[in-house]
Amino acid sequence: MPKVIAIDGPSGAGKSSVSRIVGEKLGFLHVDSGALYRIMTWLCLKNGVDVSDQAAIAAFAASAAIESRPVAGHIAFFVDGEEPGDRIRTPEISANASKVATVKEVRDAVTALLRSLVSFGDLIVEGRDITTAVFPDTPAKFYLTASAEARARRRRIQDAEKGIADRSQEAVKEALLARDKLDSTRRYAPLRKADGVFEIDSSDLTLDETVAAVLEKARSLLAPSASRGDS
Ligand code: DC
Repeated sequence: MPKVIAIDGPSGAGKSSVSRIVGEKLGFLHVDSGALYRIMTWLCLKNGVDVSDQAAIAAFAASAAIESRPVAGHIAFFVDGEEPGDRIRTPEISANASKVATVKEVRDAVTALLRSLVSFGDLIVEGRDITTAVFPDTPAKFYLTASAEARARRRRIQDAEKGIADRSQEAVKEALLARDKLDSTRRYAPLRKADGVFEIDSSDLTLDETVAAVLEKARSLLAPSASRGDS
């Protein structure tokens, strides 16, 4: 049975960087579930679907074809044979993805796709509902968080690296808080701390320290003798 490490937390908490490195060290394929909600959003916008119309999004979700396969240590997603790349990483997609992610049909399609990925092997999956809804039964469940200030600071650095137009730290923080609110108050599979998760606040930790904490805990939780729910 393939093993799964599930990591949830608000945007900008460092889930992607941490999951990528932990996955590399353990030989687990990294899965960025947010990319799927971003792809759904990108497809809606590209096809003229009104992202404030839930019924239109639900109808569109049924026809969206996303392929997935392992590429260099992670699961890559393809639309019409192409990886969307940075086209799904713009502030416009970020702002609209929280809305698209509220639609039940979208969540059901993404959840089914994520669960099917165990056929490729051991996974480290990060997102907002991985510990609560997608893989609630895995013993290795983490909640990675950080203060809004730390998250805004990191997000701004990432934006600059991608050459995305500069926004003030305050503007980035406000956008993050708006997304946190949508992600944690939506009706279906909201972001919340599941019972039995191991929580890490990375506000004052370096990336290396956060990776070390996740690695140590994941190894003990996934060890054959580890008892379920041990945290
Ligand atoms: O992690 P991210 O910023 O790439 O996520 C994009 C959006 O998708 C964000 O608004 C939260 C949503 N999301 C979700 O609802 N459930 C997940 N498992 C992952 C992301």
